Amino acid sequence: MTLAVEDITVRCRAALGEHAPALAVRDVLDELVADPEALERALGPVELGGITTVHRAPDLTILRVAWTPGMALYPHEHRMWAVIGMYGGQEDNAFYRRAAPGLEPAGGRELPAGDVLVLGDDVIHSVANTRREFAVALHVYGGDFFSVERSEWDFETYEERPRDLERTRRLFDEANTRWRDQA
Ligand SMILES: [Fe+2]
Repeated sequence: MTLAVEDITVRCRAALGEHAPALAVRDVLDELVADPEALERALGPVELGGITTVHRAPDLTILRVAWTPGMALYPHEHRMWAVIGMYGGQEDNAFYRRAAPGLEPAGGRELPAGDVLVLGDDVIHSVANTRREFAVALHVYGGDFFSVERSEWDFETYEERPRDLERTRRLFDEANTRWRDQA
């Protein structure tokens, strides 16, 4: 299958018009992750962990997210639905509930390549890549991922704080440096 980046956007955007957009996006990602080579050709190979914006609009964000081996992202919320379609490696999701104060753990889900996970708009999760390969996924959000105000929580104290994308970027930088030094 020949797949262009625009095809990904067009297909997700068409899903937004469906009765249940997140479920329609899930169906799109189910098909896309079934052909990981086509996704890699369209989006390029992963050389470092990070977030690549495929599409950004007020009602839809599509990211290619590559978690560096050994990396873990602290608990956070999105305040919009999200669909994660894995096409390389595996990400381990842990879920949380709000507690007074902070959070309490509420289960988890391992997401190997080929799996698609739908997250409701009130989900709080953390993500880890415990494998020695990049965990690569398409992340599709029902809104503008970068502009919505939301919370994240310290991994150890579960203290709530405003979402800080700069902190996330530093986490990727540190993980990438550690990974390169090992290689
Ligand atoms: Fe997330």
